[in-house]
Amino acid sequence: MSQLKQLVGIEAAKYVTDGMTIGLGTGSTAYYFVAEIGRRVQEEGLSITAVTTSSVTSAQAKSLGIPLKSIDEVTSVDVTVDGADEVDSEFNGIKGGGGALLMEKVVATYTKHYIWIVDESKMVETLGAFKLPVEVVQYGAENLFRHFEAKGYVPSFRETNGKRFVTDMKNFIIDLDLKTIADPQALAEELDRTVGVVEHGLFNGFVNKVIVGSQDGVLTLDAPNK
Ligand code: 5RP
Repeated sequence: MSQLKQLVGIEAAKYVTDGMTIGLGTGSTAYYFVAEIGRRVQEEGLSITAVTTSSVTSAQAKSLGIPLKSIDEVTSVDVTVDGADEVDSEFNGIKGGGGALLMEKVVATYTKHYIWIVDESKMVETLGAFKLPVEVVQYGAENLFRHFEAKGYVPSFRETNGKRFVTDMKNFIIDLDLKTIADPQALAEELDRTVGVVEHGLFNGFVNKVIVGSQDGVLTLDAPNK
């Protein structure tokens, strides 16, 4: 599996050229993209500036000598490469398995060419088997949890090592065990309107290209109408 992740990470790095501002995703697949960019910076003198989507990725990028800027020091990002937890046949996706969905969506919003790198197990017909991460402010989070419970969304607070997980932006994550999301647009609109929700892991219509790794090799899919 890590070989597939490395394969798609290296493939995605081919879209990066000198002079670009690039976005570095978060997670075990994006790790290999960042590693390849670091290698090219060090060995080939690739000249780029990067913005990152989490403190974890910032640490990796710094350790590799990748020049970094904050998202507010740039006005746009040429190419961002990130992982995803699920991608449906319409190129909608779920992200946030690594807890970085807010920063990931902010960077994606200012990105001209947005690429996901996944293995074939992430390609699904309908989203929802993966629990949908929802980033919420700490204030009133228990009430928001009860609200999701009443709606039948089967919420759980994300925890690490027995403690409530706190994101880089100092929020909690509530994961919704929806099983299937019949209408990702409608659910995204509902969550966007819900007070206390900072952001959710539905990335509808964001991605331009999905690079899929499988035992048979790498497949690059272009999203329609992008
Ligand atoms: C982090 C993310 C990740 O990109 C997503 O969870 C995929 O991670 P991995 O490549 O480790 O499966 O959204 O918030």
